[in-house]
Amino acid sequence: MKKTSKSFMAKQLRTPLYDALLAHAKRNVISFHCPGHKNGRGIDKGLKDYTGEEVYKFDVTVFDEVDSLHDPVGSIKKAQELMAQAYGVKHSFFLVNGTSVGNIAMFLAACNSGDSVIVSRSSHKSIMAGIIMSGVWPIWIQPKIDQNLDLIFNSTYDQIKDALDKYPEAKAVFVTSPTYNGVVTELSKIVDLCHRRGKIVLVDEAHGAHLLFNKRLPESAVTAGADLCVQSTHKILSAMSQGSVLHFNSSLIDCIRVKKIVSMLQTTSPNYLILASLDLARRQAFLYGEKNFNRVIEAAEEGRSYINNNINSMKCFTRKEMQKLGFDLDITKLTVNVTKTGLSGYEIESILAKEYNIQLDYADLFNLVAIMGEGSIKSDVETFVNGLEDINKKYHGGQKNWILKIPSLATEMVMRPREVFLSGDTKKLGLKKAVGHIAAQTLTPYPPGIPIVIPGERITKEICDYLIDMSAKDIRISGQETEMLKTVKVFTN
Ligand SMILES: Cc1ncc(COP(=O)(O)O)c(C=O)c1O
Repeated sequence: MKKTSKSFMAKQLRTPLYDALLAHAKRNVISFHCPGHKNGRGIDKGLKDYTGEEVYKFDVTVFDEVDSLHDPVGSIKKAQELMAQAYGVKHSFFLVNGTSVGNIAMFLAACNSGDSVIVSRSSHKSIMAGIIMSGVWPIWIQPKIDQNLDLIFNSTYDQIKDALDKYPEAKAVFVTSPTYNGVVTELSKIVDLCHRRGKIVLVDEAHGAHLLFNKRLPESAVTAGADLCVQSTHKILSAMSQGSVLHFNSSLIDCIRVKKIVSMLQTTSPNYLILASLDLARRQAFLYGEKNFNRVIEAAEEGRSYINNNINSMKCFTRKEMQKLGFDLDITKLTVNVTKTGLSGYEIESILAKEYNIQLDYADLFNLVAIMGEGSIKSDVETFVNGLEDINKKYHGGQKNWILKIPSLATEMVMRPREVFLSGDTKKLGLKKAVGHIAAQTLTPYPPGIPIVIPGERITKEICDYLIDMSAKDIRISGQETEMLKTVKVFTN
């Protein structure tokens, strides 16, 4: 069916799951089912005074009228079909534990224990969970870093081609696109290359559920032809937090297996408000994506241009700059480099929150990331930019005192992360003594938020020196088990 055909459009106006829930809520049915608040009656009064009671009537459990997420035959089935139709894929699965669970599901669905997967070391932490649970061998791609922009990139076509040439046994390639900063890699080229070689392409498109719905935005993984791709519909479109979708569009993976795995990983008590919000977010994006994201893009582009032309201690990279580097940019996102203020991104994030009533999604030592979405309006961006201009008047002329760098992470994997993770044979060694041993834990310094130690890999001297340096600089290292990082857990062999 053509996307512009009348029957396609008419179908996309429907919201079967939301309609079923609304009809149920309006009937004021006496509840002898979970949850215990009974249509909101038992919800804490303070909360209910603020939110109103009606919304809790959507918080129901599995019964025929509202369908079952694990074995859908009614309104959830129809809502998933409309989602798949909107994105042009064979099947869409609703997720109620975000893209985190979708990433894990992709590994389990595409790979068997012992397969190997090419994956960037700068992937989201849920990827490590997927690697451990599925028992695959990761083949790491070293993330590229731009020390002028203070930015970490996703895998490029050339990096993936090199990895495929070197490791032709890889079963799948895992790509994150867009990144947190909205940087999009050359997905179509990557998918073509992988499919020519019979490799599965898995895409973490947590930040890209909106891309398909506006012509000015970069290409989405679903159009590029990814076999599986997972999107956080809650991040930029208007679904409630935790609402994500896993899209299946493959002739290399069995859809029934995907269904079983998604079911294994999800709660049997999904929140129906989240599920209904996926249904509504899809219709809204389909109907108004062009118009709403034009508004968001204009606001973001004006903000970017104002910052670049008027705020001398801050800078936003542009789409043109990204294209010169071989990437594309989701121009709804604003990454603001603040290194010349003399303050860190964290400090400015805190000033914005406390003094300007503005909360960002993310900041690091160098950058602020302002995420816009379906509900963003021009005046929000103006207030943000005014706040930055104000901060710039007080703080400017600073020097960068930290360089974004990481050691070589294309390490030798001696054991599969799963084997080490599930083994009790570990001991702690002083950082210097750990060189040459097999790591038995994950250590991730923030910044840059990339795991520097992964279970199963041979620890190099470069990695140890890096960790010692990070620890001396008081950098927070996620995964460390003591106040100061003095030891690292290794496999006892
Ligand atoms: C690139 C990326 N992948 C996956 C996730 C996890 O998504 P979710 O919060 O929907 O579980 C995030 C979250 O920020 C992310 O940035």
